[in-house]
Amino acid sequence: MKAITISEPGGPEALVLTDVDTPEPKSGEVRIKVAAAGVNRADTLQRQGFYNPPAGETDIPGLEVSGVIDAVGEGVTEWVVGDEVCALLVGGGYAEQVTVPAGQVLPIPAGVDLIDAAALPEVASTVWSNVFLTANLQPGETFLVHGGSSGIGTMAIQLAREVGARVAVTAGSQEKLDVCRELGAEILINYRDQDFVEELAKATNGHGADVILDNMGAKYLPRNVDALATAGRLVVIGMQGGVKGELDLGKLLRKRGAVIATSLRARPVAEKATIVAAVREHVWPMIADGRVRPIVHSRHPLANASDAHAEMEASQHIGKILLLTD
Ligand SMILES: NC(=O)c1ccc[n+]([C@@H]2O[C@H](COP(=O)([O-])OP(=O)(O)OC[C@H]3O[C@@H](n4cnc5c(N)ncnc54)[C@H](OP(=O)(O)O)[C@@H]3O)[C@@H](O)[C@H]2O)c1
Repeated sequence: MKAITISEPGGPEALVLTDVDTPEPKSGEVRIKVAAAGVNRADTLQRQGFYNPPAGETDIPGLEVSGVIDAVGEGVTEWVVGDEVCALLVGGGYAEQVTVPAGQVLPIPAGVDLIDAAALPEVASTVWSNVFLTANLQPGETFLVHGGSSGIGTMAIQLAREVGARVAVTAGSQEKLDVCRELGAEILINYRDQDFVEELAKATNGHGADVILDNMGAKYLPRNVDALATAGRLVVIGMQGGVKGELDLGKLLRKRGAVIATSLRARPVAEKATIVAAVREHVWPMIADGRVRPIVHSRHPLANASDAHAEMEASQHIGKILLLTD
């Protein structure tokens, strides 16, 4: 089969279309004939050599796909050949075929086409596990998501709005903030010329954010703690602003706050299956009845994965970038 491999760590041109062996499903796995793969920020880090796959896993990038099951491993009872599905992967999605544990597979939600479904598994699993299972966002609480127009952000805004939270976002342009507003964000902060701590305090009468979903890491750590409400929960999922920051424990203690950092990719298969089951139970119905939708910015042929990475790194996109096998 054809797959995108990383010739050597580097820029987008390091992504090369290559002939590789077709993977065979092991016990408990299915194989998917890929229709589309989602591009994630993590893939760009892997390409640069900063985010290697867990030991023993494929080094083909790609954390999510949609497609049709074309082989089923021993012991799999819930899926059959021909099922149209999407799936959360540990890697391997930038390929014509990929194998995945059966518990990480989801049906295509009603009303979503097969291609666009590739935009869902990674963002839905990341947002649901962090914002709801870990940070326990409640109706009426204030939720701040940094990078509101990102793949993650566009899903986080919609899900938080649906559970009845008040949503605040940061983004780097008015156009992006406008889309965030359309998706349900009420407090819109341009991080290039506004201070999010001040703006959030103004908009919430000094209350701050009960939950923050952060992609910036070190650069935003002190200000995120400042922006937290009493008993607030800061969940760090990205380190776009560096890995080592200074944490004022006195401030955190006075707020009785929590700082949590998580990664989805390295979690054991059983944990991923639990998250995927929760996504199917809670998020899929919201998509099926049209309240939440995948936001797809662009679609590129798989062979042009380098263009897709260049587009993501230029950061002009809103929502998800997809790679198509046909
Ligand atoms: N830990 C996990 O399990 C996990 C899983 C999935 C994703 N993630 C992380 O989640 C983040 C988003 O991923 P993605 O795939 O959705 O990426 P993406 O679409 O490329 O989004 C990156 C976002 O970063 C924003 N950004 C850049 N500088 C910023 C700043 N100073 N303040 C606020 N926002 C800023 C960009 O906003 P502008 O375009 O407006 O500049 C853009 O919205 C990444 O950091 C990724 O690594 C983590």
